[in-house]
Amino acid sequence: MEENLLNLKNKAIESIRLSKSKEEVNQLRIKYLGKKGEITSILKTLGSLQAEERASLGKLINQIKNEVEEFINKRFEEIDEEVYEKIKETEWIDITAPGKSILRGRLHPITQIQYEIEDIFKSMGFSIFEGPELEDDYHNFEALNIPFDHPARDMQDTFWLENDYLLRTHTSSVQIRTLETLKPPLQGISPGRVFRYEATDASHENTFYQVEGLMVGKDISVANLIYVMKVLLKEIFKKEVKIRLRPGFFPFVEPGFELDINCLICNGKGCSVCKHTGWVELLPCGLVHPNVLKMQGIDTEKYSGFAFGLGLNRLVMMRYGIDDIRHFLSSDLRFLEQF
Ligand code: DAH
Repeated sequence: MEENLLNLKNKAIESIRLSKSKEEVNQLRIKYLGKKGEITSILKTLGSLQAEERASLGKLINQIKNEVEEFINKRFEEIDEEVYEKIKETEWIDITAPGKSILRGRLHPITQIQYEIEDIFKSMGFSIFEGPELEDDYHNFEALNIPFDHPARDMQDTFWLENDYLLRTHTSSVQIRTLETLKPPLQGISPGRVFRYEATDASHENTFYQVEGLMVGKDISVANLIYVMKVLLKEIFKKEVKIRLRPGFFPFVEPGFELDINCLICNGKGCSVCKHTGWVELLPCGLVHPNVLKMQGIDTEKYSGFAFGLGLNRLVMMRYGIDDIRHFLSSDLRFLEQF
């Protein structure tokens, strides 16, 4: 009998030792120590034994019961420990590790320079005027002194839409929208997106950005234009920049100019950027053509004005030495993250 009991104990302990989960251990507890468990059942048979034998066997069984019980509790703790070790291996979190850096958005380089230019002009008392990208023939061409059959229309390859609508080919259309709504004296700039139906290459895009400028008032002359341009360039390039005006033709200005700046790479000595001329073409401008003012009912005896059109892509390219205009709309983070 005693031997049987010891075998039973060893069997119980061995199976508990091999158990893998708490449920399994619980099953074994029921199997051996439950009301109908193997060890409990033996305890129940003691009644039929002699008093002496009953006492010694009873003691032994209780001892075995306690041992098994203890072993079960120990196994529970071990299983907890094993589960914890496993979690540590697979889901370990190092709370002292530095966090992953969050990807931060930033302003597109064109937007950055646009905001800079807006600030420069605001400081000179200019307003910001906006106009639609979807334009009509009248505002984009006709009211700018570019009649239907004028050869200047060939200068701008246009995306035509239905009903004579078009994607504006320049921000000069906002000059007209401004003159329609405000009375001189007025001064403002209009930054925005423009579109040309062009084959793209390193220096041509079908979508690019301009800032149009317009000032109309009494006695506005080329001197005012030059002064404003000089302030603008000094602020943008952070130094005094020499400029020169060459004649240029645009139907909505008279006289019209191409404004060149002294090459900032070689300081005017001549280099590959300025094609060894010492000058870089920067922006077209001029005095607003009287026809444009008259069409908006402005008395040209009393008022005159200047206008200019600054290409933003070109300006950013010059500032950072970017060699391909197509980078701007490429959405390539390797490019954009540099600004
Ligand atoms: N709108 C012209 C273009 O996109 C640029 C331009 C030239 C604007 C002369 C002006 C100007 O305001 O006076 O080609």
